[in-house]
Amino acid sequence: MTTRPLQFLRRGQPVALGNVPPDRTLLSVLREDLGCTGTKEGCGEGDCGACTVVLGEARDGQLHYSAVNSCIRLAHSIDGMALWTVEDLAEDPLIQPVGDAPPVLAAGLHPAQEAMVQCHGSQCGFCTPGFVMSLFGMYQKHVVPALPKADGLLPTEGVLAPITRELAQEELSGNLCRCTGYRPILDAAQQMAQLPPQAVNEAEVLQKLELLAQSRQALEANSSYIAPITLPALLAARAAHPEAQVVAGCTDVGLWVTKQHKQYARILDVTRAAELREVRQDAQHIALGAAVSLTDAFAALVAQWPQLRSFASRFAGLPVRNAGTLGGNVANGSPIGDSMPLLIALRAQVVLASSARGERTLALEDLYTGYRQNVMAPDELLVRILVPRPGVTEALRAYKISKRFDDDISAVCLAVNLDIEGGTVRRASIGAGGVAATPARARQAEAALTGQPWTADTVARAAAALQAEFSPISDMRASGAYRRAVLASLLQRFWLESQGEAAVSVENFRLEALA
Ligand code: FES
Ligand code: FES
Repeated sequence: MTTRPLQFLRRGQPVALGNVPPDRTLLSVLREDLGCTGTKEGCGEGDCGACTVVLGEARDGQLHYSAVNSCIRLAHSIDGMALWTVEDLAEDPLIQPVGDAPPVLAAGLHPAQEAMVQCHGSQCGFCTPGFVMSLFGMYQKHVVPALPKADGLLPTEGVLAPITRELAQEELSGNLCRCTGYRPILDAAQQMAQLPPQAVNEAEVLQKLELLAQSRQALEANSSYIAPITLPALLAARAAHPEAQVVAGCTDVGLWVTKQHKQYARILDVTRAAELREVRQDAQHIALGAAVSLTDAFAALVAQWPQLRSFASRFAGLPVRNAGTLGGNVANGSPIGDSMPLLIALRAQVVLASSARGERTLALEDLYTGYRQNVMAPDELLVRILVPRPGVTEALRAYKISKRFDDDISAVCLAVNLDIEGGTVRRASIGAGGVAATPARARQAEAALTGQPWTADTVARAAAALQAEFSPISDMRASGAYRRAVLASLLQRFWLESQGEAAVSVENFRLEALA
């Protein structure tokens, strides 16, 4: 078995590395092979953000940035992309002052670094590199588009508003600090836009990425890291190598490598197949390709259901949402994955495909047969998720209960979607997570609601049914009794909110409002 050399762009230069095993992480390559120890390892599982790096990928002629956790990212997955680590910000000749701006410091620090210095945002060397890289990603996405263009004109599109506290909190949600405290780091996030600007020379990066693409060797069919760029090639590879470990963002498989020390001789990466990266909309559905990132998938869902915004922002931290995919979360089938209860409530379907038998479509909840087990055949892959468009009488809420507000795993997740017409529940769809071996549809609670008047009595009966139909386990996240109590409380909360009660929760609590 062979492995194609790994090639990527760094500091404006192509980097080529041979003999990188398919299951080697990007962090290992950076620290151990390239000696770039500025990028740190804290948790090794995508929780702390110490290992954050920024990737640049050419998409439709634009450079698309994403901050990701290098500890759980397989090195080969960045093939053909641009990479920035904390050591590159002051060294990359393609990060250049904008306009007549002088360098911020004699040392040539990037505004993200200089702002951390000015705001006293750093005490230790562990979290700081990750925070700086998340700030850099935020800078390229939210500050650079608002800079005057080369012709001196202000941009007609892009984000013109300064970085708000809320945006800074959201963008830094995957980075943990346990000594300085977050206030000065959030100050730095807001301060960096005030400093003399710098920007990535995107035209040149794109040109160099194009040259890199042209120089890449053809993918060998027997490669140990296979990442086909079309759906037919992907399905053929799946049929030829049913033993290969499938990855679709690797935010969970990465943990099996770093925490369980599993080894994989062959990886099949689905994220390069163009058909799996599409978000398409028609009159009936929003069709989300299985390799659409969680960031982009939730953006598409929030555009239809704005009330999901807070729920979406609480799915792990931003670097995990940037790397992880909706299809990966669904196919992985973890009972505590947050997207499935929501998709069940939305009555979503999954499309499975194989090269021999074509496509088949089934209700999402019917995908699962047991703990992390599903109906997919060895030659099959999840290729698409179909979400029906919102109905006019639909009321939807999704609730996540976890010990920490940000960057945590649910103890219980409940999504409730009711069609209420003339005071009667015409249809009920309820998805639950953390209460069974698989993500589950709450059929008994749905039956207790359907056709009933939307009243407190009906809700009480449905809440009792909801508690009765699950027997959750006790573990480190919550006891079984707590989980059952929470299920009933969340349905009660849905009722109160439907009666116009303002949601009292940390989601809408803002510390600054008290100042
Ligand atoms: Fe903690 Fe990677 S080392 S997220
Ligand atoms: Fe490093 Fe906070 S300054 S943990």
